[in-house]
Amino acid sequence: MANLSIEVGGLKYPNPFVLASGPPGTNARVIKRSFSLGWGGIACKTISLDNSKVHNLVPRYGKLRWDESDRKSVLGFQNIELISDRAFDVWLDELADCKQAYPDRMLIASVMEEYEKDAWVEIIERTQATGIDAFELNLSCPHGLPERKMGAAMGQDPKIVEEVTGWAVQASKVPVYAKMTPNITDPREPAQAAVRAGAAGISAINTILCVIGIDLDTYRPMPTVEGYSEPGGYSGRAVRPIALRQVMEIARACPDTIISGMGGIETATDAVQFLLAGAHNVQLCTGAMIQGYEIIEGLCEGLSKFMDDRGFKKVEDLVGKSLPYFTTHADLVERQLAAKRERAGEANRDEMWQGNIASETDSLTAENEKKRDQ
Ligand SMILES: Cc1cc2nc3c(=O)[nH]c(=O)nc-3n(C[C@H](O)[C@H](O)[C@H](O)COP(=O)(O)O)c2cc1C
Repeated sequence: MANLSIEVGGLKYPNPFVLASGPPGTNARVIKRSFSLGWGGIACKTISLDNSKVHNLVPRYGKLRWDESDRKSVLGFQNIELISDRAFDVWLDELADCKQAYPDRMLIASVMEEYEKDAWVEIIERTQATGIDAFELNLSCPHGLPERKMGAAMGQDPKIVEEVTGWAVQASKVPVYAKMTPNITDPREPAQAAVRAGAAGISAINTILCVIGIDLDTYRPMPTVEGYSEPGGYSGRAVRPIALRQVMEIARACPDTIISGMGGIETATDAVQFLLAGAHNVQLCTGAMIQGYEIIEGLCEGLSKFMDDRGFKKVEDLVGKSLPYFTTHADLVERQLAAKRERAGEANRDEMWQGNIASETDSLTAENEKKRDQ
């Protein structure tokens, strides 16, 4: 079995698989269970100082399946879930408890606050006292929070990303990751802003705004809450190609920055693609929710097999291996023209070669005929 351990930015993970912020890390019980199953790290459900402002709804999930008779055949997943509605003090006790129970696993505190320096400094200082290993700034939740100028409302404005990340970096003694929203034209701009502010890493992507469907009997959009709905965050395997592209773009734009890649990862094969596209580790949320936390076993086995089969000694050797093969359309055109010219040249050379053989054969034949006639 290949060695799956990684060290990124001073953080040591037993394997590169991290549970992404969301239901999989919603309290100490599930975090500890996930660590016991073998997850290398967990970003807890996003926490804030004042949970009284967080009102979660039921239902808050919607699913797009390719086979309605198969519960697990989920192509895409919508949520209108907010950040954690559990009290900050409870979280502080639970984070300390999880870190104590699993000191060798990476515990990342996902945090979010309003656009106010004191609030960010307070949440960073009080949370880091629990012993967590890193912060992930949620600058990317696309629903509910932007109405309070939080989440994606910050992540869509590179100036605010730079300012808020700077507040967190100055207050933090551990590495700070900024989590990006994909709901933006150019994902490189906020990522570069976070790097300028001193972020150790970029996490990408959060969910993509969507409407999962409309009920044809009631004409109501889903998930339907008291007859109404709102656009929510799309995740799961349907978003994987979009996430892969954004991770690749960010990795190229921020070459010296750690990238934690996510969006639709469910298998080791998916994870390898993110590593090849420049991610240093990978996170999963929807995949673990739908397939179960136990998928960690198959993820580790699959990655290990891939590495053994191809002779990779370290996970790091996969990181960014495919990046040199991304280019521009104009360059592709040039390359194709050059390849066609080369092939045409080869064809000409072949023709000449064939021609040479023919003439040599002709002269040999003529010579032989002459000899026979003598
Ligand atoms: C139900 C649900 C709740 C989520 N809550 C959070 C959250 O609190 N904080 C956060 O940063 N991301 C949150 N996310 C986003 C995920 O961490 C992840 O960025 C996104 O879902 C893409 O990865 P996936 O396709 O593996 O789920 C949530 C996702 C889902 C599906």
